[in-house]
Amino acid sequence: MEKDDIIKSVAERVKEKMLGESTGHDWWHVYRVWKNAIYLAEHEKGIDVYVVQLAALLHDIADWKFSGGDTTAGAKMAREMLEDVGVERGSIEIVCDIVENVSFKGGFGTRLSTKEGMIVQDADRLDALGAIGIARAFAYGGSKGREIYNPGISPLQYRDFEDYKKSNSRSTTVNHFYEKLFLLTGQMGTEAGRRIAREREEFMKEYLDRFYEEWNGRR
Ligand code: ADP
Ligand code: NI
Repeated sequence: MEKDDIIKSVAERVKEKMLGESTGHDWWHVYRVWKNAIYLAEHEKGIDVYVVQLAALLHDIADWKFSGGDTTAGAKMAREMLEDVGVERGSIEIVCDIVENVSFKGGFGTRLSTKEGMIVQDADRLDALGAIGIARAFAYGGSKGREIYNPGISPLQYRDFEDYKKSNSRSTTVNHFYEKLFLLTGQMGTEAGRRIAREREEFMKEYLDRFYEEWNGRR
């Protein structure tokens, strides 16, 4: 198969698996990360866009949150699928390495060793920011039974990944903005990613200003 056909085929399979998932890890999240990743790849030099696309498509195939804490489940599934469509070994290794390490993990995830990995990670982080990021946060929070906001509960700081994983805390979705989302801009690995992240974060802060005004009946 040609590379383009391989990408199409992987996209089809991922779509089939993930369509209709409602906590923010559905096919359309993957679709946006895929498109973000292509954009970021176009703004960096010497990138293997083929590997970037495969890794973006597979990055959430078995998220650790939904695999009983098994952090290698995604890479295993990715490997099976890539072997099945006939991707050659070298690319499989790089893609699986990215899939295994890309998740946020409360900010304690491994730093990715390839530029391709950084691009996928940035593309994933961008989807947690901006207008889409706001929608996803409230969708996820709702699925966990969290309050949208509670002035009596202040944001937490996590000590490590275990702490983050365990904390099915009572924290609110607005707190999640401070606990995770506003930290992302500083963690971006690519120049273009950081620029877009900054813009999206700015927009979220405007949103929150307005949110607090409405909360207090001042608007
Ligand atoms: P990733 O796409 O890297 O796997 P996560 O699984 O950490 O990211 O998060 C998926 C989406 O759910 C993101 O948009 C994130 O902001 C949101 N989310 C994760 N944890 C929370 C939370 N505790 N409260 C609200 N939203 C959350
Ligand atoms: Ni993701």
